[in-house]
Amino acid sequence: MSLLLTCPAGLEDLVRGDLLERDEVRSVLAGPGTVRCDSAVERDRLPAMVDRVAVPLDLPDDGGTAAETASAVGEIPWDSYGLGASVTFRVHLPGSAEQKRRAGIIDAVQDRLGWRNDPSHWAVNLDLSREATQSGSARAELGPWAWAARYGAFERLPATTPGPVSAGLVRLAKLQDGQTLLDVCGGVGTVPVLDGMLRVGRSISVDNDGASVAAARHNIASHGLGGRVEVIEADAADLPLPDGSVDRVVSDLPFGKRIGSNELNRTLYPAILREIERVLTADGRCVLLSDDKRVFAESVAKARGLKIVGERVIRYNGVTPTAYIVRRSRRPKSRGRMSPGQASGRTKISP
Ligand SMILES: C[S@@+](CC[C@H](N)C(=O)[O-])C[C@H]1O[C@@H](n2cnc3c(N)ncnc32)[C@H](O)[C@@H]1O
Repeated sequence: MSLLLTCPAGLEDLVRGDLLERDEVRSVLAGPGTVRCDSAVERDRLPAMVDRVAVPLDLPDDGGTAAETASAVGEIPWDSYGLGASVTFRVHLPGSAEQKRRAGIIDAVQDRLGWRNDPSHWAVNLDLSREATQSGSARAELGPWAWAARYGAFERLPATTPGPVSAGLVRLAKLQDGQTLLDVCGGVGTVPVLDGMLRVGRSISVDNDGASVAAARHNIASHGLGGRVEVIEADAADLPLPDGSVDRVVSDLPFGKRIGSNELNRTLYPAILREIERVLTADGRCVLLSDDKRVFAESVAKARGLKIVGERVIRYNGVTPTAYIVRRSRRPKSRGRMSPGQASGRTKISP
């Protein structure tokens, strides 16, 4: 059984590391944002950074005949994917010139496997586009294994962080059970809600936008996380939280494109960092995503009490922001002196 796992580019090593560490599943890097496993993986054991899951299809470069396609689909051990008795499918073969061919494949698959063609409620999406077959990456995508099916629907807004990207940020934060996570720009709450589903501990979502806060409340309730994840409508530059009360800050900051501006970030980032420095525990860790890289680096440099200890570029939906790992560069004044290790410079992030 072979599976192709898609994740945001830049997180492949974390996906592979988790598969190996948790379930001894070996995998290879199949391309940017794609990991291939050649042994069984359970749906519920997939790392949360995995977005889509597909079974590779062995087809000739020209796609083959409709009967050959149905035969390649028929060779897959479908019982192992828990799709149930009545499987719905669609065929992705774009272009009006392909209409006849698509119809032939639909008929052949229905005849051979007894599946039902349902383009809007499919469990299997046969990606047979010319580019896919010619590059040897024709595949059958498994709808019930996709991120949205595994973690449930989220109310979203245009700036919402995709679930698998949020999962990558949470993964980089190295949270332990019982710790407190804070998202200072929580939006619809994707990061804290996901954290609430993966871990035991407190998660707080702060945002100053009423619509985002309302959506976050909805997402918390729809995921059954009331009482576990809190939402606070507040300014990230003036957090209503006590000093030293947060173990991890994980946030997708405004990039200054869709939300705010680069000019605004020049004052917003330093103000947010000042508050983070205040509420973070002495050994706290932050994972802060930004595409306004210069302003972010300059703001941390000016913060004095914080330093960047690692960076990782993540690519998704046409953007390539950096996830910065930020720690204290010295202990808070009231809590003693800086240890020698804390003075060290920036390093590449280890998984
Ligand atoms: C990139 S979005 C974060 C998206 C979020 N991770 C989600 O999944 O919805 C940035 C968020 O920062 C919020 N924001 C901007 N300025 C803020 C401020 N001063 N205080 C708190 N939140 C702020 C915006 O309302 C927006 O929801």
